Amino acid sequence: MHPIRIAPSLLAADFTKLGDEVRSVEAAGADWLHLDVMDGHFVPNLTFGPFVCAAIKKVATRPLDVHLMITDPWRYADAFLDAGADLLTFHVEVAGNGDVGALLAHIRSRGKLAGLSLQPNTPAAALAPWVEQLDLVLVMSVFAGFGGQKFMPEVLPKVAELRRLGFRGEVSMDGGIGPNTIAAAAAAGTNAFVAGTAVFGAPDRTARIAELRALARS
Ligand code: DX5
Ligand code: ZN
Repeated sequence: MHPIRIAPSLLAADFTKLGDEVRSVEAAGADWLHLDVMDGHFVPNLTFGPFVCAAIKKVATRPLDVHLMITDPWRYADAFLDAGADLLTFHVEVAGNGDVGALLAHIRSRGKLAGLSLQPNTPAAALAPWVEQLDLVLVMSVFAGFGGQKFMPEVLPKVAELRRLGFRGEVSMDGGIGPNTIAAAAAAGTNAFVAGTAVFGAPDRTARIAELRALARS
C-alpha cells in the first residue's frame, strides 16, 4: 500500500503571490506540490515552464510533482529535472513522438521518479509496455487543460486495470477531486490526489486538506 498523498495543484493558486501560496499549502498539510505544465499544443492552454518551476523550488520543502501536458517531453525533460522536479510525468498520448521507455529510464537515471499520464479516453492498456518502468501513473479524471472541471467517474475502473497489468507503483488522480469525489477515487485504489480548486478555493486550507485525507482513508 502506498501512502495517501494530497497534492494541491498550483494552477489554482494566486500567481501574484506564488511563494506565499506554496508556503500556505505546505503549512496546511500538502504532501506534494502539483505543477501543471501546458504547451498550447498538446492542450489548448499555456501555463509556465522550467523557469517558474525553479522559482517554486526555491521556496518549496515538499516534492514537486510535475505534470507535463506537452507534445515534446523529450526536448524539455532535462530542463524540468534541472529546475527541481522530483516526479516527472508526461502523457502516453505523445508516445508516437519518441521513445517512451528511454525517457522513463532517463528520468530514473537522474534519481527522480518517472510517471505516465492517461487522458480520460485513453485505456489503461496503453501503458502495458512500460508498467515495470513506472513509479507513478496519473489517471486524468477530466480532459487535461483547465482547472475547475467536473470529475469523470467513468475513469475509475482504470486503476484496477493498471493493477491487472502488473503495475505496482503509485496511482494519482487529477481533475475535479474534492470532498464529493475523493472517496470514490480512493475506493478505486488511488493513493495520490491532485486538487486545485478544492484546496486553493477553500476558506480554510488546513481543514480542507485534513477533510480530503480523512475521506481518502475512509
Ligand atoms: C488539468 C490539470 C489539473 C487541474 C486540477 O489539466 O492537470 O491538475 O489543475 O484542477 P481541479 O482540481 O480544479 O480540477
Ligand atoms: Zn495536473
